[in-house]
Amino acid sequence: MSFIIEFKEGLTKNEYYKEFARQLSHILENEPDTISRMATITAALGETRKFLWVGFYRVIENELVLGPFHGPLACFRIQKGRGVCGTAWLEKKSILVANVHDFPGHIACSSLSNSEIVIPIINHQNNVVAVLDVDHTELHGLNEDDLSGLQKIASLTLVSDTSIVIKPAF
Ligand code: SME
Repeated sequence: MSFIIEFKEGLTKNEYYKEFARQLSHILENEPDTISRMATITAALGETRKFLWVGFYRVIENELVLGPFHGPLACFRIQKGRGVCGTAWLEKKSILVANVHDFPGHIACSSLSNSEIVIPIINHQNNVVAVLDVDHTELHGLNEDDLSGLQKIASLTLVSDTSIVIKPAF
């Protein structure tokens, strides 16, 4: 089992994310624990991409609570409908913010953040169980290619019903 993610030279961003997701899915294939999977996804993204911050907020009762992340310290709790994260949760849709200063109610955990992507993690019951938040220091530092690539990565967060068979005890 290899824990290394490596790339050929000269990949386009789309090819890069596709290859990233392929290698990461192998790394994750035998691990059913969601928090371990989140921790691995944030570490892999944080170590290999120039993001300011990458992390999960988990839905716990009626708010988002900080989960595994890679980067500077960040706020612990976000209410539904608040900021980019709370809006992605409320609207059950991914949000690309090319300039966070243009997003009404953006929560600035770091003054260094200038662009952001938030992707809701939706389970088989169609409930948002978490959001993946990625922050970049550059204005327009994240674009549609990052959004579709990060959606591929985010789709690895939850174990699909078929990828791991958890055998009954008896
Ligand atoms: N900017 C987010 C808050 C989380 S931090 O960026 C880590 C938001 O507006 O929801």
